[in-house]
Amino acid sequence: MREDPSGRGRHGDIPFGNRHLTDDRDVFEHNAWDNMPWDEEMEREAKEMVERQKTAKVSEEKGRSLLEEPANYWDAFYANHTNKFFMDRNWLLKEFPELDTQQSETSMRALEVGCGVGNTTFPILDLDKDKKLFLYSCDFSPKAVEVLKGSEKFDPSRCTAFVWDITQSPPPDAPPPSTLDLVICVYVLSAIEPKKLHQTLLILRSLLKPGGSLLLKDYGRYDMAQLRFKGDRLIDDNLYCRGDGTLVYFFDSDELDERLREAGFEKEANVVDRRLIVNRAKKVKMQRVWLQAKYRRPL
Ligand SMILES: C[S@@+](CC[C@H](N)C(=O)[O-])C[C@H]1O[C@@H](n2cnc3c(N)ncnc32)[C@H](O)[C@@H]1O
Repeated sequence: MREDPSGRGRHGDIPFGNRHLTDDRDVFEHNAWDNMPWDEEMEREAKEMVERQKTAKVSEEKGRSLLEEPANYWDAFYANHTNKFFMDRNWLLKEFPELDTQQSETSMRALEVGCGVGNTTFPILDLDKDKKLFLYSCDFSPKAVEVLKGSEKFDPSRCTAFVWDITQSPPPDAPPPSTLDLVICVYVLSAIEPKKLHQTLLILRSLLKPGGSLLLKDYGRYDMAQLRFKGDRLIDDNLYCRGDGTLVYFFDSDELDERLREAGFEKEANVVDRRLIVNRAKKVKMQRVWLQAKYRRPL
């Protein structure tokens, strides 16, 4: 299942939803509840479900072949769905006020990695009312980049889009080292095999100016999407393949923090966004867990 989580309201200094469940009897009164703390029992049940998945992992051979050429699966995904699958990430400004270029006195340069067909790229360009931003957008799926560039919203005077596997050295189309104000990662680091993450983060950090920020939104550990996986999906701890062969990893926030620090980033924010989604007709409760983080390349 893929969908577009949207953050609304305030949660500490990070904007998320503000509909809080104070009385359990009201749970089916609304479709969603924000900032839902987990109790020990929920945590235990989630761990048990993940333990059970370990008894039905993918075969070693299948796991190896899925990890070999991950771009092929995403390319087939976009050949099949083009721009009809993901919704535009219209919550971006609420979670990342850094994207409000009106607050900046100078021009800005940003890179969106794993841009797909532009569901983050185009909202970012829409936010840039004064046209102060130049945006680089890249994806390792040639089909995704082709669809993005074919959109009537694509404006080559404000944005460039190119094919790049961010686990590999930057191609000539990439921005030069130390030139970016922002790197934006929306549901992309979870698509990378964990053993390639360190190298990827080093590369992204090298493109940021000192003081530049990496903005990240991704799946959190024990999100409903993780717990729902049945047999023949688990490749390695917290790393799964979907039915179409695309990869997804579910980060723990402390682990993400460690990985970012190891790559030389400094924390600005790292928040777990927990939301209870309710199917009122079926009386079913589903827990969503997302991570939102901002890390800086030190000055
Ligand atoms: C869940 S989609 C998110 C797309 C987009 N960020 C958005 O907001 O809709 C993940 C994207 O990451 C891309 N991706 C995964 N691994 C990548 C890699 N190593 N290098 C570049 N792009 C990658 C996929 O092709 C896919 O478009």
